[in-house]
Amino acid sequence: MCGIIGVLGNNEVAPILVEALKRLEYRGYDSAGIATVNAGTLDRRRAVGKLVNLSDLLVHDPLAGKAGIGHTRWATHGAPSVGNAHPHKAGPVAVVHNGIIENFRDLRAELAENGVGFETETDTETVALLTHHHMSQGDTPVEAARKTVARLDGAFALAFLFDGQDNLMVAARKGSPLAVGYGAGEMYIGSDAIALSPLTDRISYLEEGDIAVITRDSVEITDANGTIANREVRTIQIDATRIDKGGHKHFMAKEIAEQPGVIGQALQHYIGTGSDITLPGKGMDFSQIDRITMVACGTAFYACLTAKYWFEQIARLPVEVDVASEFRYREPPIPDRTLALFVSQSGETADTLAALRYCDGKASSIASVINVPESSIARESDLALPIYAGVEVGVASTKAFTCQLTVLFLLVLKAARDRGTLDDAGLAAHLDALRALPGVINVALGKNDAMRAAARKLSTARDVLFLGRGQMYPLALEGALKLKEISYIHAEAYASGELKHGPIALVDEEVPVIVMAPRDALFDKTVSNMQEVMARKGKVILISDAEGLGEASEGVWTSIEMPKVADALTPILYAIPAQLLAYHTAVAKGTDVDQPRNLAKSVTVE
Ligand code: F6R
Repeated sequence: MCGIIGVLGNNEVAPILVEALKRLEYRGYDSAGIATVNAGTLDRRRAVGKLVNLSDLLVHDPLAGKAGIGHTRWATHGAPSVGNAHPHKAGPVAVVHNGIIENFRDLRAELAENGVGFETETDTETVALLTHHHMSQGDTPVEAARKTVARLDGAFALAFLFDGQDNLMVAARKGSPLAVGYGAGEMYIGSDAIALSPLTDRISYLEEGDIAVITRDSVEITDANGTIANREVRTIQIDATRIDKGGHKHFMAKEIAEQPGVIGQALQHYIGTGSDITLPGKGMDFSQIDRITMVACGTAFYACLTAKYWFEQIARLPVEVDVASEFRYREPPIPDRTLALFVSQSGETADTLAALRYCDGKASSIASVINVPESSIARESDLALPIYAGVEVGVASTKAFTCQLTVLFLLVLKAARDRGTLDDAGLAAHLDALRALPGVINVALGKNDAMRAAARKLSTARDVLFLGRGQMYPLALEGALKLKEISYIHAEAYASGELKHGPIALVDEEVPVIVMAPRDALFDKTVSNMQEVMARKGKVILISDAEGLGEASEGVWTSIEMPKVADALTPILYAIPAQLLAYHTAVAKGTDVDQPRNLAKSVTVE
């Protein structure tokens, strides 16, 4: 979580740091701070809450200097407060940190024995104090930083700045990503390429255990063994101009609207327009695989649950799906001929990465579906399949979800071909349906007003239930997650058939029940469950196609019509109303749509 930026520049650095923090704010927004070295003196400014508070503070109390580090925080140890905000400073050293120092209590106890006092509740302060301690014993800043990093357990990315040193930064990576950026007579460090994108397009990623000693015209990287290491300098292509709201009120609204375009982009990349098709997964032979283990978190987990239906029905391949935080500690046996498949927008989610590492050496092959090709999960996979969603800024995932589903569906087709469960005609029909999908999604987006009207009704509810059957069940789960995370309304999802096994007790005239039911083979079953809800005065919002609404909309509270799409692709299409209902409900409630409370976009701590 938390975002880190560091600049050794030739101009005043405070505005540059603040601009970079804006691009990192998706990682956390509990507090923000910067430190600079000006005429040899290290100083800092910190503010609680959104970055705008730090900007305001800097207007009244500016910070000069051409060397600086900055941080945007998602609180782990210690409440959001100015005292707990980064950079943490101890004597001549300032530190910004992403991750968790697991042994900070032991280190604190050790420092306390040496008479060192503490001002904050954070684990990070220990890093600053330990470095200061080593410097007071005569170590140079670099030696002190190295000795400190060697003592730290946990997952972290760190940047150090020192009093009296306006041409030196030290950066360290263990478990949390950190990139070094190369400019013209300037150097940068950042949590990700997005932070650095307007400053430079030349970056190298630090690897596990790396420490970088950086000046304006040099960088020396040593690996975990202390040996000088060369890290490839890559030219990245991130279009910084695209990281804006494009005229929309929120990033989430923009990202929802982008879906026809980005899904089209993913399809173009994988299957093009011609008849000579290469399905993703080149080099993988699904006829040599007996089962798939899919692991992810949150929305990406629901993409996996959806893909399970597809893999099992279309490719006849058994799939187990697990949330990464459970999988990694359960130590499940991984039988021979198992493909381990990980799905992650950021590619940096700590639990998913740990689950991948658990499977390394056990599964026959490790594949991932990711949005950030340079991410740790992508780099540690045998095969990484990008989803081409573009940068997703809104904390609630939208376009990444539908692009994940699109790429997973293509992988299912590849599996089905390899396993002989899909003939040429079947493949052609699926590909035609996929190619029509962006257009169909556009039609669904055109139902915005109906969604807004339904959302106004939802916005006064205390609890909302979502129901779906078959492949619409994972989508119901996703709809409930979207609603709760941005509108703060309690929402739960159930497989429609499960309702009468307990949850129906929740239903009364106060509880809206959103039923996701395209007119498919399971429609009648879902409608029966819907009738059971209405018989108990539950207020049903039925989302279906014209045929489904024609058959079953009598007596419902509200109905929303979706265009018709091939049955297999309904989870992708019906993601649109799930997202828009949540979005408009949040707007009606006046919550912070793009940065909902307590959340962060990239969950790099477990
Ligand atoms: C919800 C959401 C999260 C993420 C989850 C996994 O809208 O965005 O549930 O899906 O934190 O993140 P990634 O996909 O980056 O591994």
